[in-house]
Amino acid sequence: MGSIDDGISVKDPGHLLLVGFMGSGKSTAARKLARRYGKVSFDTDIGITRMLDKTVPQIFDEEGEAGFREHEYEYLRYLWDVEPAIVSCGGGIISTEKSRALLKRLGFVVFMQVDPDEAVGRISSPRSRPLLANGGDYHALYERRLPWYLEVADLTFDTSGMKPGQVAAKLGEILRERGLV
Ligand code: S3P
Repeated sequence: MGSIDDGISVKDPGHLLLVGFMGSGKSTAARKLARRYGKVSFDTDIGITRMLDKTVPQIFDEEGEAGFREHEYEYLRYLWDVEPAIVSCGGGIISTEKSRALLKRLGFVVFMQVDPDEAVGRISSPRSRPLLANGGDYHALYERRLPWYLEVADLTFDTSGMKPGQVAAKLGEILRERGLV
């Protein structure tokens, strides 16, 4: 069996990973899908903040975005050896090449696509997102990331105009049809 570092591994940890911009509904969908289909769910932001006992803004302040991306990569490595789960990934996890490569090897990746204005409008606590907090240009950020989301995605799922419950229900149906949940 291959290992995480061999680059040609045959192992597939069998996760279902949700990626997409901040506010695209990943966390809620992951929790609801996990409950509905009796799976474990993980959230990379929650995992990282628990491991470091720091908030996301604290980590950005102390280590910068690059430091946070490194923690995200380490968290993905940790997921290599855990039972198949539904994983909600932080919106910027696709920013580094090594995390994109690892994401693709961890399981089936769903890109939760939504217009960035709609996504950001859904966020109740923008101050907890360092890249939004200081009036960052989120349109430019989305444009830069879009090719990376598409690169890692096995499935692109358009959540425009949908409420979190609808997202989970519809995505659940699609995944069930494919035998993925
Ligand atoms: C980030 C998204 C956030 C969090 C951090 C950085 C990003 O997660 O990881 O604020 O760079 O897009 P959510 O996508 O869950 O909001």
